[in-house]
Amino acid sequence: MPLPVSKSHLIGHSTPCYYYDLSLLDATLKEVHKHGLDKGYHVHYALKANHEPYILKKIQEAGLGADCVSGGEIQQALDNGFRADQIAFAGVGKSDQEITLGLESDIFCFNVESLQELSVINEIAKKRQTKAPVALRLNPNIAVKTHTYMTTGLNDNKFGISDEELHLVIEALPNLFYIEFLGIHFHIGSQINHLEPFIELAKKANRYIEQIETAGFTVKILNMGGGYGVNYKEPDNEPIPNFKAFFNVFDTYLNRRSDQEIHFELGRSIIAQAGSLLSRVLFIKERSKKTFAIIDAGMTELIRPALYQATHQIDRINSAKIISNTLKKYDIVGPICESSDSFAQNYSLPVLQRGDLLAIRSAGAYGQVMKSQYNLRPDFPVIYSDELGNQT
Ligand code: LLP
Repeated sequence: MPLPVSKSHLIGHSTPCYYYDLSLLDATLKEVHKHGLDKGYHVHYALKANHEPYILKKIQEAGLGADCVSGGEIQQALDNGFRADQIAFAGVGKSDQEITLGLESDIFCFNVESLQELSVINEIAKKRQTKAPVALRLNPNIAVKTHTYMTTGLNDNKFGISDEELHLVIEALPNLFYIEFLGIHFHIGSQINHLEPFIELAKKANRYIEQIETAGFTVKILNMGGGYGVNYKEPDNEPIPNFKAFFNVFDTYLNRRSDQEIHFELGRSIIAQAGSLLSRVLFIKERSKKTFAIIDAGMTELIRPALYQATHQIDRINSAKIISNTLKKYDIVGPICESSDSFAQNYSLPVLQRGDLLAIRSAGAYGQVMKSQYNLRPDFPVIYSDELGNQT
């Protein structure tokens, strides 16, 4: 689903700016509905991927819940229409204030990452004379093929409760009177494009349930987390991830009982492809061995290439003055005073000149939310395909 390049409001718009294609978001949500919600799965949208109010509204209206990792995200979810009983609160370092906010708001579930955190939540709940609904985030030690910064389910990662600690948690649980044990939670990583790790996870989940239920607890909630990847290399060939294949893994491999709820926390797969970062070419710098195209967006607007060496497709969507469609190779770099401020190396585009408009694609997730003010960069506008939510 290419960008609607004919739209004059895009071509005339100041840059850098983020553009969101809401019809693609709608179509994506329909697929999540068809293959997930309609099968009785509960899907919480991970706000960390993108927390723009207008986007949240669409996602909430589509019937998804929210997955939050801070008090700020809980508040943002509540302010944008998500019901408290649709909010899961994950995160390896919840502050006392954030735990209190979760309890006060009466959220659906705390995903708890250690015995110490469990005890602290128990104490805070005791003071408030309430019970905290809890799922244990387990670290299943599953390797995934993704960037090393995006694996979270290995024992070397800081996340979750290890198998050794789980024994201690199971021993402690009966004495934690202000904890309501709901079930278990996993999140093994992000941008996972192959299904094997999810199959392994589903099989491991069955074994964990058996272990915990043998110890006398009922697992009512099974939260399999997020992590499903998108096609950054060819976004137009796969604008919507194959949700059918993703949810089928859990249909097939989970021993799901009718008294159990299966939850997911999807972020990237819902919003990544709907967003683009628009930027104009400022300068062309010719060197003997390469040509730089210096553009007006940088790592301050989209840090993924600098931080994870991530690949994003870049399109020239309008030329200031078309000279030629001949392809030429460029290093596409931003204006920030860092050599890591680069979007692509040796990248083929039609010959570029000052003023040409580029779209850096698949930037809807972990794009705008990871912006920074480094170099005292100004904030940028956000535009939507339906023009209703535009803040220009
Ligand atoms: N649940 C938990 C507990 C998480 O930590 C995450 C993402 C998600 C759900 C959603 O995962 P998703 O479906 O979006 O993969 N900044 C990185 C991605 C970091 C993901 C962090 N956790 C990037 O730009 O690729």
